[in-house]
Amino acid sequence: MQSLTMTRPDDWHLHVRDGAALSAALPHTARQFARAIIMPNLKPPVTRTAQALEYRQRILQALPAGMAFEPLMTLYLTDNTAPDEIDRAMDSGLIYGVKLYPAGATTNSDAGVTDLRRCYPVLERMAERGMVFQIHGEVTGSDVDPFDREALFIEQILKPLIADVPGLKLVLEHITTRQAVDFVSGAADNVAATITPQHCLLNRGALFSGGLRPHHYCLPVLKREQHREAVLAAATSGSAKFFLGTDSAPHARHDKESDCGCAGCFSAPAALELYATAFESVGALDRLEAFASHHGADFYGLPRNTSQITLLKESWTVPGEFPYAGGSIVPLHAGQQLPWRLQDIQ
Ligand code: NCD
Ligand code: ZN
Repeated sequence: MQSLTMTRPDDWHLHVRDGAALSAALPHTARQFARAIIMPNLKPPVTRTAQALEYRQRILQALPAGMAFEPLMTLYLTDNTAPDEIDRAMDSGLIYGVKLYPAGATTNSDAGVTDLRRCYPVLERMAERGMVFQIHGEVTGSDVDPFDREALFIEQILKPLIADVPGLKLVLEHITTRQAVDFVSGAADNVAATITPQHCLLNRGALFSGGLRPHHYCLPVLKREQHREAVLAAATSGSAKFFLGTDSAPHARHDKESDCGCAGCFSAPAALELYATAFESVGALDRLEAFASHHGADFYGLPRNTSQITLLKESWTVPGEFPYAGGSIVPLHAGQQLPWRLQDIQ
């Protein structure tokens, strides 16, 4: 196959930050994707509808002229979120989910939820109104091994949640384990998952190949090869429960290459090409379009995009860095070749 034309994709899990970082990060995504679910973990977090709508305006203002892109906004769930906030969000028509960050789980999660049971009135309102719950599925606590956090979350938090609030539509974000694949596959249709390019392509060995590799560090952390295989098998299975969510999470180079490096891979500059490479590695390029452009829209109840993009079988090298908010940023796969290249829109 020398080229692949498909429906323009969407990114169902994206961090674009704010201010100068937003202006630097956003064009990389808008080049590739028609829409993206925008994560609310700013400082301070986007906890209210009014804040989300203001953030949406800043995103639209940061879009380079001539680029079409629709930000799909989310709210950051806290212990104090009121059920009425769900009504305001839903009634705005511009907010598409509420995000769970267990307190302490990841970047800017300090204001996150300390005990999900406190949020049950909010979650029940979400189930009534059809608001999607986006879940960072890791338990926290220094006593828990970082590589076990997702699997334990499924047992300790997710299974009880689904039993207690059965109608809730939820997305287990950026899944990384066989346990998550099995759980989502076996759950009812209201349960889905997003999958990142790094969890399709890399196992935890990539954190240590030839030395410590901070640009491969994200949360949930990369897992063993058997888990990567399970995650890639899910992405390429054709199941409508699995769809594209890059979790592209920009951090400046100096914040990654640090004594205490930030978690997050900046995959936006080559996102689609990275997924294409992963799908091709298991002979599943024919399933890329459904994963990237159909399943997410269907799950969120949004129309599929009508425009198209084309990937060309043309080797190129991912740049080593890009400008970023007064400094630079290193993309995922920096300096390495990719066999597929997104054709520039004419
Ligand atoms: C994300 C970030 O930097 O905001 N980091 C990451 O490693 N994925 C937060 C998150 O999604 O966990
Ligand atoms: Zn994320």
